[in-house]
Amino acid sequence: MTYTNPALTVVSDEVTPGALRWRSPSNIALVKYWGKHGNQLPQNASVSFTLDAAATDTTLHYHPRREAGAGVDVALYFDGELHPGFTDRTRRFLEGLLPIYPFLRQFSLRIDTTNSFPHSAGIASSASGMSALALCLVSLEEALFEPLPDTAAFFRKASYLSRLGSGSACRSVYGTAAVWGTVSGLADSSDEYAVGIADHLHPVFQSYHDDILLVSRSEKSVSSRAGHGLMEQNPYAPARYAQANQRTREMLDVLRRGDTERFGQLLESEALTLHALMMSSQPSYTLIEPNTLKVITTLQQFRRETGHPVHFTLDAGPNVHLMYPDAIAAEVSIFVTDHLLHYCEDRQYLADHVGKGPHQLAIDGTSGA
Ligand code: PMV
Repeated sequence: MTYTNPALTVVSDEVTPGALRWRSPSNIALVKYWGKHGNQLPQNASVSFTLDAAATDTTLHYHPRREAGAGVDVALYFDGELHPGFTDRTRRFLEGLLPIYPFLRQFSLRIDTTNSFPHSAGIASSASGMSALALCLVSLEEALFEPLPDTAAFFRKASYLSRLGSGSACRSVYGTAAVWGTVSGLADSSDEYAVGIADHLHPVFQSYHDDILLVSRSEKSVSSRAGHGLMEQNPYAPARYAQANQRTREMLDVLRRGDTERFGQLLESEALTLHALMMSSQPSYTLIEPNTLKVITTLQQFRRETGHPVHFTLDAGPNVHLMYPDAIAAEVSIFVTDHLLHYCEDRQYLADHVGKGPHQLAIDGTSGA
């Protein structure tokens, strides 16, 4: 599929300045994407839950330029302050989109973005940030040209654009849960965009919790980009890709059946496999920290004692995601406060849960548009 469209240019004099705003959540992978090829294409399929509290709020201001520039004119403000690093990254992303959106050269863009979680919390913000921006861009296309044929086409395009910014971001545009990557038997699934799978979920998973325990808020020593790159030489890569594809199919079945036990086994194995791949890369590296393992072993003991289906997963970092059904939320909350918070930096954690996905906001932020 291609969204390349040289016809998407405007007559600058006929366009008035405006702004669009979206709030988009982060997502947590249940089966992990780790390894890519070509232009941000995944080496294996992945499945995620869409979160709710961990989100990015982005406003895209557009102002027509008298003459189109060679590149994209953009400034990114993070928490109200111009951020040169994010501006450069965003400009590269937008310039990569010029074959799809040639009109981007014809505007001066200002992006205002804030995260719902503390800046240095160590929670990956690229999924929420890139998906929020991609949604603003598809809304801008609709404001300047024709509306897309339907909502499915709107979100598919937003997912496609998000993927080009940050692979895992393509799963954030759908509420509840999403699959990215071609999966046999899953209609419309693709390596180029994610598909929503809210309808496939047993009720127990629709209100699942994810407490993000902030073991460390420091910057990652090895970026995800570099980590994906190291998979190219990893001797275990082919077996891993086959395993992840098989697990994606099994996870879909588990999510349908509401099997929290098998869910937990797969979830934890996925987390440890991701970090094993980092440890077996050349050069090898570790992102987990001593307190990551303390949290994991304390959780395992709690599970042995109570029999409760509380399981962990990890992202590409030391923080631990605790996942469990709503029915045991009160008990888990006490356990977290009494036994896990002292392993967290400044006793910080973010109580999150499966969410309904992104939504467009009015520019003043007071109500949905
Ligand atoms: O989206 P990226 O390129 O930052 O890669 C993120 C990969 C993991 O978060 C580790 C796993 C995943 O599928 O989200």
